Amino acid sequence: MRKGRLNKPMAEVAQRYSASVSFDWRLYPHDIAGSIAHAAALAAAGIISADERDKIDNGLRAIKREIENGKFQWDESLEDVHMNIEAALTKRIGVAGGKLHTARSRNDQVALDLRLYVKAEIAEIGARLRSLQTALLNLAGQHVDVVMPGYTHLQRAQPIFFSHYLLAQIEAFERDVERLRDCRTRTDVLPLGSGALAGSTIVLDRQSTARQLGFARVSQNSLDAVGDRDFACEFLFCLAMIGLHLSRLSEDLIAWSTSEFGFIEFSDAFSTGSSLMPQKKNPDMAELTRGKTGRLYGNLMSILTTLKALRSSYNRDMQEDKEALFDSVDTVRAALEVFSAMLPEIKIHRDRMQAAAGDPNLLATDLAEYLVKKGAPFREAYETVGKLVAHAAKTKLPLNQIPRQELKKLSALFDVDVANVFDVRRSLASRRAIGAPSPENVDAQIEHWRGQLVGGRGNLRARRRIRRTAWRSVPT
Ligand code: ARG
Repeated sequence: MRKGRLNKPMAEVAQRYSASVSFDWRLYPHDIAGSIAHAAALAAAGIISADERDKIDNGLRAIKREIENGKFQWDESLEDVHMNIEAALTKRIGVAGGKLHTARSRNDQVALDLRLYVKAEIAEIGARLRSLQTALLNLAGQHVDVVMPGYTHLQRAQPIFFSHYLLAQIEAFERDVERLRDCRTRTDVLPLGSGALAGSTIVLDRQSTARQLGFARVSQNSLDAVGDRDFACEFLFCLAMIGLHLSRLSEDLIAWSTSEFGFIEFSDAFSTGSSLMPQKKNPDMAELTRGKTGRLYGNLMSILTTLKALRSSYNRDMQEDKEALFDSVDTVRAALEVFSAMLPEIKIHRDRMQAAAGDPNLLATDLAEYLVKKGAPFREAYETVGKLVAHAAKTKLPLNQIPRQELKKLSALFDVDVANVFDVRRSLASRRAIGAPSPENVDAQIEHWRGQLVGGRGNLRARRRIRRTAWRSVPT
């Protein structure tokens, strides 16, 4: 590459500064798949012979095997994954190798590799999200009728089922799956053929290349195609959002595993001890996951900031997109894997949850609604019950043990049936509107998700997708 315009070898310090092969080597399966498809297009256009195409094809496959066996020598002086592979190919097959880069630039090549990479990772992370949802669903199924206090502001608010909490997590992760799917539609565009920025005087059949590489669409503007990293930003946002959801889940579990709550216990296999305090059992997996959310946000900020002032088309700054991307992918993959393995081993302290849910104050709103059902305007009922709660606090009597004559003083509407209000399960049974935690609703939701995740084809398809991912970009 330096044989033309440049007269001096690159300064060693400049080479070290600019080389990206130490991290972009991992694009190799996509780079090779892209080159195989490009060689096919060159042959179809009559730029190379069928024989040369086959040589390129076989050479690239051999290089791929070499990389996979750990035999390939990456050379930093060749800058990046693209130049390393091209140089190795030319060394292996001679002059035909030198024809591969016809009508192509590293600018459209790297855009192609990145899109293939993001598409593959969307499938992989989608499958891992499915595994996590399945773990949450299994837990919900095992503890379907465990009652616990629901919290707002970390204050006891109203009773819910623990399974309702778990189903809430499944909902959030489902949005993440959908977001990834959306991101995929915009990633699923072939940039190859855009050249450096203005296509090429050698015209290739891009539609056919798109079909070969599994792209739904072909980019329509060469300038935009080499400068566009929106899909990478979007994907990093999806990953940051998954991190956010995992972090909030972590935070709940960490709090609930304390002696103060005592609702759950992490398995020893997913806990650490203290180097000093012999009694300690720490929820480090959840804490690390909460902590790693910081780098997921950081990576998103990093790519957005890198791109913000770039002139149109390709600028070398864009090389900085990759480490952020790879780091977020690795982080989310690992976190999802840990959570899917950790959740099935969590011990649920049903008695502690139910004891906490026995706090009659959790049913103060039910009491107000009792008065509403007897004809009181809600605001009036709210005030009446507020006074009762204050009275209960003052007299140190639980809300459900205030004598009926005291109740009557505040509202004539209180009757013998008021005792029924203080039955947590009865309260839950009457929460029947769509989305509310009645047992019927919780059951129906569990059935729904079972159909989506376990019984249905969802999981099978997801599993098949994982297996396919590794090889999809390289036609075999
Ligand atoms: N390593 C480069 C990157 O990651 C590849 C493209 C280089 N293109 C160029 N014109 N120098 O973006």
